[in-house]
Amino acid sequence: MAEPHISVLLNENRIFKPSKQLAENSNVNKWMASHGISSYEQLLKKSQDIEWFWGTVSKEFVEWYSPPKKVLDWKLPYSNWFVGAKYNIVHDALDRHASRTPNKVAYYFEGEPGDMRAITYKQLSDEVSRLANALKRLGLKKGDRVSIYLPMILELPIAMLACAKIGVAHSVVFSGFSSLALADRINDCGARILITCDAFWRRGKTVQLKVQADEGVRQTQTIEHVIVVRRTEENAPWVQGRDLNYKDLIATESPACETEKMDANDLLYILYTSGTTGKPKGVLQRHAGYAVNIALTLSWVFDLKDGDIWWGAADAGWVTGHSYIVYAPLMLGTTSIIYEGAPDWPEADRWWDIVQRYKVSVFYTSPTAIRMFMKLGTEWVKKHDLSTLRLLGSVGEPINPEAWIWYHENIGGGRCQIMDTWWQTETGAFAIAPLPIADLKPGSAVHPLPGMAAAVYDESGKPSPAGQGGNLVLLRPWPAMLGGLYKNPEKYQDTYWAKYPGVYLTGDIARVDESGFYWVQGRADDVLKIAGHRLSNSELESSLVSHAAVSEAAVVGKPHEIKGESIVAFVVLKQGSSPSEPLRKELREHVAHDIGKIAQPDELYFVNDLPKTRSGKIMRRVIRKKVVGEPVGDISTLMNPEAVAELDNKT
Ligand code: PRX
Repeated sequence: MAEPHISVLLNENRIFKPSKQLAENSNVNKWMASHGISSYEQLLKKSQDIEWFWGTVSKEFVEWYSPPKKVLDWKLPYSNWFVGAKYNIVHDALDRHASRTPNKVAYYFEGEPGDMRAITYKQLSDEVSRLANALKRLGLKKGDRVSIYLPMILELPIAMLACAKIGVAHSVVFSGFSSLALADRINDCGARILITCDAFWRRGKTVQLKVQADEGVRQTQTIEHVIVVRRTEENAPWVQGRDLNYKDLIATESPACETEKMDANDLLYILYTSGTTGKPKGVLQRHAGYAVNIALTLSWVFDLKDGDIWWGAADAGWVTGHSYIVYAPLMLGTTSIIYEGAPDWPEADRWWDIVQRYKVSVFYTSPTAIRMFMKLGTEWVKKHDLSTLRLLGSVGEPINPEAWIWYHENIGGGRCQIMDTWWQTETGAFAIAPLPIADLKPGSAVHPLPGMAAAVYDESGKPSPAGQGGNLVLLRPWPAMLGGLYKNPEKYQDTYWAKYPGVYLTGDIARVDESGFYWVQGRADDVLKIAGHRLSNSELESSLVSHAAVSEAAVVGKPHEIKGESIVAFVVLKQGSSPSEPLRKELREHVAHDIGKIAQPDELYFVNDLPKTRSGKIMRRVIRKKVVGEPVGDISTLMNPEAVAELDNKT
C-alpha cells in the first residue's frame, strides 16, 4: 500500500451556502421539522442512533409485505437489516406506482441516432412482468442468476427489474467490457441466462455486442439461453435453439406477474468490481436495506420532488446506474432520462441539448465528463437554455475545485449547489455527501450522511489529526452495505475488515479539515480510477503477461487532465521477442480485447527489468513515482535497485 500521508496540495476555503429557498423547502428539512430536529448538526448527531434512524426512515421509504422484527442484526463483518421482513424492491420501484400513478413517465429514452421513447410506470411494469413471466417459463426460479450485457437502452432496467421481480439475482456486465470479461463474470456467478442485444450505437457507428456475447458464452458452461434485444435490427449471428428473440419471447406473455415475496436479506444482485488482485469481486446487494438506503439518499441529497426530471448520466452497467438510474429514482416515482450514446455526439452540445429539450432539473455526472466539457469550451453550453436545472451532482472520483467552479458557473448558472457524492460499489448508496441544507466547499464531499459514521485513521488505527491524510474508514454498518463477496468470504474479510478490527476499510485516502469537511484524495491501494471507473492494476498486468511475448508487466496510473488518471504500462519481453511499434500496438489491443477499451494502456513501454522487493513483488509505488517525476525515496531494500535507473532506458 502507498503511504497514506498524501500531502495537501491545495487549501480550498471558498464556501457556497445554499439559498434559503433550497434549504427551507428541501425534503430533509421537512423531515427534520416533523421529527423535532432543529439543525443539521443535531440531525447528524441524532442519526448516530442507527437503529432508531434507519428504523424510522424505513417506514417512510418502503412498503413491507410484512414488517421487520428487528432493524439490525450485526455479526461482524456481516450485517442483516430489517430482519424478518418480507419485501421486494420491485414492489416499491414499480408495483405501487403502476397502480397509483400509472400514467406518469418513468423514463424518457433517447437513442444516439435521435429516436425517442417515453415509457410510463404502467407500461414499464407491464413489460417487466411480461419478461418476468418469460423467464419463469424458461425455468428460472428464485435464487438463480441471470447475466445482463446491455447498453443504455430501456431493456436494461427492464431486464434488471424482471429478474428482481421473480427473485432471480442479476449480474449486469458493462457493455464496454470485452467478451472475456463477460465470460469471467458468467463463470463466477453461474448464470443460466444471458440477456443481450444485437448491437448499439456509439459515435455514429454500431458496436456488435452479440458477436462479443457469443464469443464470451463459448467460454462458459452454464448458459442455457441467450435472449437478444433487437436494437439496430442488424443481422446478428444466431445460434438456433439457444438464442431467443426478446420481442417474440414476451409477445404472448401476460402483463401481470406476481412479485415474489422475498426475505429482507435475500440477494438482489451481484455486481463485479475491480480489486487489488486480478479477479473481479462479486459485490452482493440485498433487497431491503439497499432499498431503504438508496431511496433515502436520493430523496435527501438530490431533493427530488414530484415535478423533477432527473438525469443520472452514467451507465447502468456500474453501481451508479444500479442505484440511481434504476432502483432509487423508480422508488421515488421520479421521471428520469436514459440516453444511449456518446456525450459529444454528433456535436459537443448533445448533453446540453438533452437537458434543454427534456427540461432536466437535477443532473448528476462525473468529474471526467465535466473536465471534458470544460476543454470543449463554453460556447457549446451557451447554445442552450439550462435554466431548468436546480441542483447538480458529481461522482466517481475527486473533483478538482477548478472543475467544480466551472460546473457551478457554466452548467449551474451560478445558482445550483453541487452535490459531490462519495460512495462505492460496496457502499451501495451515497455515504459522504452534502445535503441541500449544507454549506459547500469546492472539492469536498462535505460530511458523512445521517446514519453514517466515518473517520480517517492513521496506520496504527488512531484518528488522524485535522488536515492530515489517512485511510478513510466507516465505523458502523449501514443498510446498503455489501452483503459480502460472492462465494468469497475470505476475500471479503481480508479486503475490508483485516486492517482495523471491526472497522470497514474503504481503500481511499482522505482528510478531514478543521471544520469537519471530508476531502477524498484518491485510492490507497492498487486500483486505477479511469474516467471514474475502477480498474485493477493487477488485472491489466495479468492480461499483458498472458501475451506470448511478455514475461513481466507493471501498470501504474498517472494524473491525467481529463480522465483523472491515465494508464501507463511497462513490460519486460521474453527472450526471443524484441521491442517494436507493431508489438506495442498489439499489446495495447490485447488488453482491450481481454478487458475492454477502457483498460487499454495510454502509454506502453518496453524495459529490461522492473524494480522488485526481495520477495519478488513488483514495486509499483516506485514506478509510479518515476512516472510522475517525483523522487523515488529509499530503494535500498529492493532486490534490484538498479532496475529503477533502468526505467529511464525505456523504449
Ligand atoms: O476512490 C473512490 C472513488 O470511487 C471509488 C469507488 O468506485 P466504484 O465502486 O467504481 O463506484 C464509483 C461510483 C460510486 C471510491 O472508493 N470515488 C467515488 N466517488 C467519489 C470518489 N472519490 C472522490 N470523490 C467522490 N465523490
